[in-house]
Amino acid sequence: MSLNANAASSAAPVRRIDDLPGPRGLPLLGNALQLKPRRIHLQMEQWAAEYGPVFRARLGRRAAVVFSDPADITAILRERPDTFRRPAITAEVSAELGGQPGVFLAEGADWRHQRRMVMQAFAPHAIKAYFPLLTKVGARLQERWGQAAREGQAIDLGADLKRYTVDIIAGLAFGAEVNTVEKGDDVIQQHMENVLSGVARRSLMPLPYWRYVRLPVDRRLEHSSAEFTLAVNSFVAEARNAMAADPGLRSAPQNLLQAMIAATEQPDSGLGDEAVVGNVITMLLGGEDTTASVLGWMIWLLSRNPEALRRAQQEVLEHVPDVANMTMAQADALDFIDACAHESMRIKPAAPFIPLQTVKDTEMGGVALPKDTIVWCVMRHAAMAEHYFPQPEHFKPERWLEGGGAARAAALPFGGGPRMCPGRYLSLLEIKVAMAMLLGRFDIESVEAVDGLAPEEVMGFVMAPAPMRMRLRLR
Ligand code: HEM
Repeated sequence: MSLNANAASSAAPVRRIDDLPGPRGLPLLGNALQLKPRRIHLQMEQWAAEYGPVFRARLGRRAAVVFSDPADITAILRERPDTFRRPAITAEVSAELGGQPGVFLAEGADWRHQRRMVMQAFAPHAIKAYFPLLTKVGARLQERWGQAAREGQAIDLGADLKRYTVDIIAGLAFGAEVNTVEKGDDVIQQHMENVLSGVARRSLMPLPYWRYVRLPVDRRLEHSSAEFTLAVNSFVAEARNAMAADPGLRSAPQNLLQAMIAATEQPDSGLGDEAVVGNVITMLLGGEDTTASVLGWMIWLLSRNPEALRRAQQEVLEHVPDVANMTMAQADALDFIDACAHESMRIKPAAPFIPLQTVKDTEMGGVALPKDTIVWCVMRHAAMAEHYFPQPEHFKPERWLEGGGAARAAALPFGGGPRMCPGRYLSLLEIKVAMAMLLGRFDIESVEAVDGLAPEEVMGFVMAPAPMRMRLRLR
C-alpha cells in the first residue's frame, strides 16, 4: 500500500481555486449555511466523497481548499510553520479575549521557541514524574464507579471522563490539585468549558458579528476568559515561589508548569512568563476534551465488540493487578489496549479535520494556493477507506498490533509533521490507566446514548460522543 497511490498531484497543469469542483453556495454567505458547526466534519467528509481529493468550499466570502488525500495532507502538515499556519482567525479571536498565544496558536519563530519549551515539559523522563498523579486520579474514579456499581446507578460517562482528564491535566498544568472526581464540578472547569466552546464557535462564524453586537454567549465567553487568565496568573506566581524555595525542582520538575518555567529560565529560551501563562492555558484546553472524548468512544466501541473487550480485559488482568499501584512498565505492556485506542481514534477521531491557512503563495496537489487561502485537511477520509484499512467500518484493533504498516500514515489522530500533538504519549498513558481501572475491577453491563441509539458525533472543540449512560458490575 502506498500513500501515493491516490495522490492528487500529477504532471497535469496547475489548477486555480476557481477551476476546482465544489458545492454551490449563496452570494456573500458561500456554503456557510450548509456548514453547521456541530456537523461541519460530516458535511466536509460527504463533499470529499462527492467531489474528490481536492475541492473548494466557501466560508463566507473566503475560499477554502479542502484536501482529503493522505499524501497531500502529510505534505501540508510537514510544511509548517513556513508555508502553512493555523487559521489567523483563531489567534485573532483568542487575542481579542486578551489571551497569550501558547504553542497551539503561535507561529513562525515564536512557535519554534515555544515548541522547544513544551517538548521539554513532555520529555519521557518528565512524564515519568507525572505518572503517579494519573494512577491517583484513576484510583479515585474507580472508587466513584465502584459506588455507582454497588448502588446500581447509571454513570454519566462523558461527564465522569472529563472529571478524570481535568483532574489530571489541571494537576499537571497548575501544579495544584483540582479534585472534581470527588468534589464535583469546579469553577475553573466551568470557565474552561465556556472558553473552549466559545473560541471554537467564533472561529467558525462566517462574520465576526461579536465585534458589533454581543450576545449572552459572548458575554459569558469574555467573563470566563478573564477569570480563567487571572487564576492561571496566580498559579504561575505560586510555582515560581515554590521553585525559588526549592531550586532542585528545576532539574526534576514535578509537573508541566514547573517544567515549562525551568525551560524559560534557560539562557537562549527567548521566552518569559507570558509564554508560560499561554501554555498553561493551552495544555488545559488541549488536554481535557481530547482524551475524554477518545476514552468515551473507545468504551462504547469496546462494548459493541465483545471479542475485543474480552481480550482487552484479559490483558489488563494479566498485567495490572492494582491500578492504584500501577507502574509505567505495566502501562507500556498494554499493547492490545494501545491498539484499541488507535482503532477507536481511526473510526472516531477527536480531530476529524485540521484547518490551516497558507503563509505565502504556494502549490499543493496540483492547485495554486495564494497567500492566506484557508486549507482544510479532512482527516477521516483515508482512515475509513477500504484501500488503506480493509473492512474500514469494522473495529479491528489487531490491525495495529503489527505496527499498522504503511496504512498507519493514513490515519493521523495526533496530526503530523513538526506540529504533531506533543501530548500524545501522556494521553495514551491516561487512556491506559483509565482502561486498567475500568476493566480490572468491573464488567460493562451496558453503555448507551441517552436515547438508546448509537451516540451522535457532536463537533465542538473536538468531536465528542453525545451523552452516554454506562452501567457497571463489580467483578
Ligand atoms: C487523545 C488525545 C489527544 C488527541 C487525539 C490530540 C490531537 C491533536 C491534534 C490532531 C493536534 C493538531 C496537530 C497538527 O496540527 O498536526 C494536536 C495538537 C496539540 N495538542 Fe493534542 N491531542 C490529544 C491530547 C493532548 C494533550 C493531553 C495535550 C496536552 C497536555 C495536548 C496538547 C496539544 C498541543 C499543545 C498541540 C499544539 C502543537 C503545536 O501546534 O505545535 N494534546 N493534538
